[in-house]
Amino acid sequence: MTEQAWHAVDEWFCERLVGADAALDDALAASAKAGLRAINVAPNQGKFLYLLARIQGARRVLEIGTLGGYSAIWLARALPADGTLVTLEAVAENAAVARANLAAAGVSDKVTVIEGQALDTLDRLLKDGAAPFDFVFIDADKRNNPHYLERVLKLARPGTVIVADNVVRDGRVADPASQEDDVVGVRRYIDRLAQDARLESTAVQTVGSKGWDGFAITVVKG
Ligand code: SAH
Ligand code: DHB
Ligand code: MG
Repeated sequence: MTEQAWHAVDEWFCERLVGADAALDDALAASAKAGLRAINVAPNQGKFLYLLARIQGARRVLEIGTLGGYSAIWLARALPADGTLVTLEAVAENAAVARANLAAAGVSDKVTVIEGQALDTLDRLLKDGAAPFDFVFIDADKRNNPHYLERVLKLARPGTVIVADNVVRDGRVADPASQEDDVVGVRRYIDRLAQDARLESTAVQTVGSKGWDGFAITVVKG
């Protein structure tokens, strides 16, 4: 199968199961116009995250890596009226684009975009005694994934679901020749998931409009 066929199947599914959505389409257009890289999740992946958060009954969601707020719109839509999404972004320009996109999508009241290095922001949330999160999406600089996990576990409760994006990256995760920091970070993240008796995890590969990649999914044991 070719990458072209993966695209065609994604289009086929998206036409039927995701549909056109002005707020999401506008968010991607505004992000492109502002010069952001199109490294947001695909539409059917965004809906997958939305469904996971719905299935989980999540009321408090944490996202690490906002970009233009595309996945944040999906996650915010999964929340009940009094739900909250906290999303962390290092690049001020990205955070500004995200805030505008979230406002245009009508979800600003549920979302707080916090600017800064996510490790610092997470430490501040911990120090401030933030309430535990029900659902966490880790999608920033993959080299820091093990450090994000350490902090996220302190901001979690039994039953918290943790999803990490981009754990495959064209197969590099399992290719010993790939020693880039981001790939090493993903490997260490997966190893820590495996070693922590408090966690149950799996990882699934995906192909589609965003190439060959995958998600790791974890639940904190109750
Ligand atoms: N979740 C988004 C995509 C995120 S792309 C979506 O699917 O729509 C990754 C984002 O993480 C980028 O915007 C990048 O600026 C941000 N990022 C990278 N390193 C970071 C760090 N150390 N702290 C906070 N954000 C970071
Ligand atoms: C990159 C980052 C992502 O979060 C993603 O989904 C795809 C690509 C990147 O940094 O290249
Ligand atoms: Mg990603």
